[in-house]
Amino acid sequence: MRVEIAGVSVAFSGREVLNVASALFVDGGICGIVGPSGSGKSSLLSVIAGLRAPDTGTVVFSQDGQRRKPSRDDVAWVPQGAYLLPERSVADNVAIGALAEGVELAAAMERAEAALEQVGMRDRVAATASVLSGGETQRVALARAICMSRPIIIADEPTASLDREAAQNVADVLGRLQDERLIIVATHDPLLMEQCDTLLDLGAR
Ligand SMILES: Nc1ncnc2c1ncn2[C@@H]1O[C@H](COP(=O)(O)OP(=O)(O)OP(=O)(O)O)[C@@H](O)[C@H]1O
Ligand SMILES: [Mg+2]
Repeated sequence: MRVEIAGVSVAFSGREVLNVASALFVDGGICGIVGPSGSGKSSLLSVIAGLRAPDTGTVVFSQDGQRRKPSRDDVAWVPQGAYLLPERSVADNVAIGALAEGVELAAAMERAEAALEQVGMRDRVAATASVLSGGETQRVALARAICMSRPIIIADEPTASLDREAAQNVADVLGRLQDERLIIVATHDPLLMEQCDTLLDLGAR
């Protein structure tokens, strides 16, 4: 899977907040988007995810020689802050990713357990989400995205406010996913930047 960006700009009330002449995101490595606060990282992620249309330019998804417009159905979004359902179990929070795609309950629970295994949280499947640490919460949010069978995973600052060990755990999970999915992250975190194979710097314009 590849995402090709050409001449993409976004403006709010006439103020341009993003302008990318060209960029290419290709699977097989973590693709990082970096730049100071307000440089448009989250705005670019929204455009790639098909959550908003750019004011100019084009975004093209290309897979197995087929080129198409961005579709929300291709993207699993890991929001900054994770947004787990606090009173539900870890398993429920992850299975919801598959349930949202119409997978029936037993199969969704199986997928959830497999996804939790991938993020090293299999033993916390029955825990209530509200008791998790920040790093565990972020890994569960990643498992929820893994549980959706989508070719692109987009994570907005997935290591923000985590200590180094927790951030490294999240980076390791993302690194292991890079062969099966296209991974795009926005980040300020030098530790995660180091693990990225490509970096698009929105501050350098
Ligand atoms: N819905 C909106 N309406 C008006 N302005 C917006 C909107 N969304 C974002 N902006 C503005 O666009 C600019 C870029 O915001 P964006 O959230 O993309 O930056 P960012 O690089 O993700 O920043 P951060 O590192 O703080 O998350 C900011 O100046 C922000 O105020
Ligand atoms: Mg942001």
